[in-house]
Amino acid sequence: MTSTLITGIGELTTNDPGLGRLTDAALVFTDGRVEWVGSASSAPDADSRVDVEGRAVLPGWVDSHTHLLFAGDRTAEFEARMAGQAYAAGGIAVTVGATRAASDEELAANLRRHVAEAVAQGTTTIETKTGYGLTVEDEVRSARIAAGHADEVTFLGAHLVPPGADPDSYVSLVIGDMLDAVAPHVRWADVFCEQGAFDEDQSRAVLEAAQAKGLGLRVHGNQLGEGPGVRLAVELGAASVDHCTYLSDADIDALADSSTVATLLPACDLSTRQSLPPARQLLDAGATVALASNCNPGSSYTTSMAYCITTAVLQMRMTIEEAVTAATLNGAKALGRTDVGHLSPGARADIHVLNAPSTTHLAYRPGVPLTHAVWRAGVRQR
Ligand code: NIG
Repeated sequence: MTSTLITGIGELTTNDPGLGRLTDAALVFTDGRVEWVGSASSAPDADSRVDVEGRAVLPGWVDSHTHLLFAGDRTAEFEARMAGQAYAAGGIAVTVGATRAASDEELAANLRRHVAEAVAQGTTTIETKTGYGLTVEDEVRSARIAAGHADEVTFLGAHLVPPGADPDSYVSLVIGDMLDAVAPHVRWADVFCEQGAFDEDQSRAVLEAAQAKGLGLRVHGNQLGEGPGVRLAVELGAASVDHCTYLSDADIDALADSSTVATLLPACDLSTRQSLPPARQLLDAGATVALASNCNPGSSYTTSMAYCITTAVLQMRMTIEEAVTAATLNGAKALGRTDVGHLSPGARADIHVLNAPSTTHLAYRPGVPLTHAVWRAGVRQR
């Protein structure tokens, strides 16, 4: 057993209801788990010691929504959008073509590169999805590769009806052979419930089939307009409904009365020139709100959780504390994880040290790379 003492912590965000936020603090981790948290003056001895010299320490980011199993590039689509063209689900097909054409090695290298980029910015838990394969073989391949590099993997065969396919036949394939083949490699299933993707009946069929197979549910809902996504997610007990950009009052009430996390993806809304989601109304109503990057080559090509937090605070009227909780503890809730997103004794030692005295600097110094050091399960990453 090897223990490490981190001392000189100016501000320690634990996300532990009993410990809260500490100043002049210290933390000990042993073999990948947090062992002790408290005031620096009463810190126990450890095998090694790291003095962070007054910096802020918090749990690593939990990025609960990404699409990193892809090849190719959509710069031209982004440029067209910045020139006024609207974002539409159909762009996914471009990435499907490039992904199918890529080798396993290329897909794995691309995934590893993006995960490393995220970790270097403080992300220590990452979810990713299939959804750019859309054949049984390509979806299984994506799920298998993802399982080797991401903490949580989601089956998103219902991302888009492949061009030329009959929608009902494709849904039958997704809930039949594709689900059977992919399920052993994933923990979650998702559906893009949106105009231009899957309607309410099709989405329900996908979610119910996945649930019957023992998978947890997540939903892409209410991204491009109001629709049935949130309602369906809550009704079926999904862990999370993601996007939530266009919500009715009834959607907000339904989320507030449920355990379904509302996962907001502000980098996507900015990159697609949509409105930003109604975070303040969700929080004031009592909903659990998470923030995630939605890193993908089409609608949100960033791995920066700090950017999402900055946007949430500066433009969505979330407080720093709400935004940090949303990007750590509530991301973990969206993934049904209790071992990450907090720094209570027993938690995985996922530790993010900022080159700043407090988390307030994440919004106070927008765009400045503030990650100083990262440990994941007690192993130093940078
Ligand atoms: O979450 N909305 C659906 N899926 C992705 C976008 C995928 C793409 O455009 O390639 C999203 O934004």
